[in-house]
Amino acid sequence: MSNYHIKHLEEYYQVYRKSVRNPEVFWAEIAEEHFMWRKKWDKVLSWDFSKPEIKWFEGAKLNITENCIDRHLYTRGDKTAILFEPNNPNEEAQHITYKQLHERVCRFASVLYEQGIRKGDRVCIYLPMIPELAVAVLACARIGAIHSVVFAGFSANALATRVNDADCKMVITSDGSYRGAKTIDLKGIVDEALKQCSCVETVLVAKRINSKINMKEGRDLWLQPLLDDAYHDFPPEEMNAEDPLFILYTSGSTGQPKGMVHTTAGYMVYTAYTFKNVFQYREEDVYWCTADIGWITGHSYIIYGPLCNGATTVMFEGVPSYPDFSRFWQIVEKHKVNQFYTAPTAIRALAKEGVSHVEKHDLSSIKVLGTVGEPINEEAWHWYDDNVGKKKAPIVDTWWQTETGGIMITPIPFATPTKPTYATLPFIGIQPALMDENGEEISGNQVDGRLCVKFPWPSIARTIWGNHQRYKDTYFSAYENKYFTGDGALRDEVGYYRITGRVDDVIIVSGHNLGTAPIEDTINEHPAVVESAIVGFPHDIKGSALYGYVTLKETGETRNQDNLRKEINQIITEQIGPIAKLDKIQFTNGLPKTRSGKIMRRILRKIASNDTSNLGDTSTLLNPEVVQEIMDNAL
Ligand code: WTA
Repeated sequence: MSNYHIKHLEEYYQVYRKSVRNPEVFWAEIAEEHFMWRKKWDKVLSWDFSKPEIKWFEGAKLNITENCIDRHLYTRGDKTAILFEPNNPNEEAQHITYKQLHERVCRFASVLYEQGIRKGDRVCIYLPMIPELAVAVLACARIGAIHSVVFAGFSANALATRVNDADCKMVITSDGSYRGAKTIDLKGIVDEALKQCSCVETVLVAKRINSKINMKEGRDLWLQPLLDDAYHDFPPEEMNAEDPLFILYTSGSTGQPKGMVHTTAGYMVYTAYTFKNVFQYREEDVYWCTADIGWITGHSYIIYGPLCNGATTVMFEGVPSYPDFSRFWQIVEKHKVNQFYTAPTAIRALAKEGVSHVEKHDLSSIKVLGTVGEPINEEAWHWYDDNVGKKKAPIVDTWWQTETGGIMITPIPFATPTKPTYATLPFIGIQPALMDENGEEISGNQVDGRLCVKFPWPSIARTIWGNHQRYKDTYFSAYENKYFTGDGALRDEVGYYRITGRVDDVIIVSGHNLGTAPIEDTINEHPAVVESAIVGFPHDIKGSALYGYVTLKETGETRNQDNLRKEINQIITEQIGPIAKLDKIQFTNGLPKTRSGKIMRRILRKIASNDTSNLGDTSTLLNPEVVQEIMDNAL
């Protein structure tokens, strides 16, 4: 039996038991046998959730790109590492072999070095899904710079906040991006953002759409000529196990986005190990994850996990609806994709268009289907199972978070029997706990509570960049000696977990986490607005959509309300990005508040969801009369 590759349920239980009985021995064995180390560790694990401080493989030296690329050069040099499928189906796909990837990463690393980037410097990457994005990420890792990828759908303001928070010395972007039939002026957004950022010395610009853009003298440089002149080999920087590999921002329920910091060795071991097992990747397989590299799913399961296993990983630039809704299935057929990993929101959007798009294509290559990002509803699960997997491909419903670095609760395909809407069993080494209102762990099955994890795993984020106190407060203060996920979950009669959703003020819209407070703060900046409250409500495709209750300064505001709605969504788009736009905006004369002045969101959620038969206890409200008014005018 190999602990590295689990194929049967009994094997899963055996390995799981081993991993929790003696985690250090277990992870040391996995790390030792399947990775390249410049120097072995002195200590496998030291941890203290009260500080919190977590260290894996301390004393070890390595470079993750040596594991992702160099070690495959002799055995798989001519195998495709990255298979790039462009936005436009008429443009040719690119097969980048491990040898070519090695050369491209080395050249890019040389350019970074020439431009003064050194180990520990922060580099912001704001690029569309083109090969340069993956190459830039790996080039940073090769020279030991900390990458901070910002999803290229974020606005100039959101980008500026992230660039400043991490004090980035460089931004890597492109002249623009293709998104379906549209182009986006990414460089313009960067220029706008950088008006607010004094830390950035250099901007490297990749050419993608050949648009005319402004190049700022002394700051902006075209990437390609630099790459052409760069040296084709670049020795990997020797990194300590706990050196930061990257920062990735995620929304909190309040305040600024949180820059989650992931470190090198533990992240590598866990993402590689989960990738191998959760997708049952075999040597000749073609694996495709449709996420954007701007999110954790792209970091862990487009780049690091697959490449560490010598896999062929597809990178798709476009969208599922262009040129029509069969695009995903056309790509599956064209590249004979074996593992397909996407989000429930995409499945729902595609299901709505009917099965004809799926039926046009030969999907017989598919062995495993995956989903991630939000709870998958039963209908979407069955649609996926029936029409894409033809009931033959197990669905892995993978629960995890930016903070966890890798997949935490998931079936292992062909081993764990699946159950619709259940993420099923904890992955190897993961010790979940459900907590009740009194902060006690709930034992037994057929129970529900708040989801925590009791023991560290190798890829847990180590801190929030520049704010360790916030890391402690957010994740380690709700329950003693436990990592709190912010999610609720239930455990069924056989011990399977079902994630029921966020229990804090984070709303997941089309798979994107959005904190309500930052959106409210943005709306409140509008001169006509006194205050606002955002809640989520069920939406057929997005899962949840945003409903805003907005109180205006002048009652009987004479301005056209539709214009005001447009203006509010406009500021949200500018400050945060189009993903945070509100689907519904209701103007109110006041918001229901407790005597201590807290907005009672529970009531607003019910009204937004059209579920007003039982509003619960409203006796503690300061202004119960507004509830009726809000109900009468609900949208
Ligand atoms: C939610 C994405 C139900 C959850 C990898 C979590 C899920 C948040 C699932 C993290 C799933 C993710 N079932 N809910 N399979 N996967 N979530 O940081 O609420 O973008 O806390 O990481 O998404 O989102 P994030």
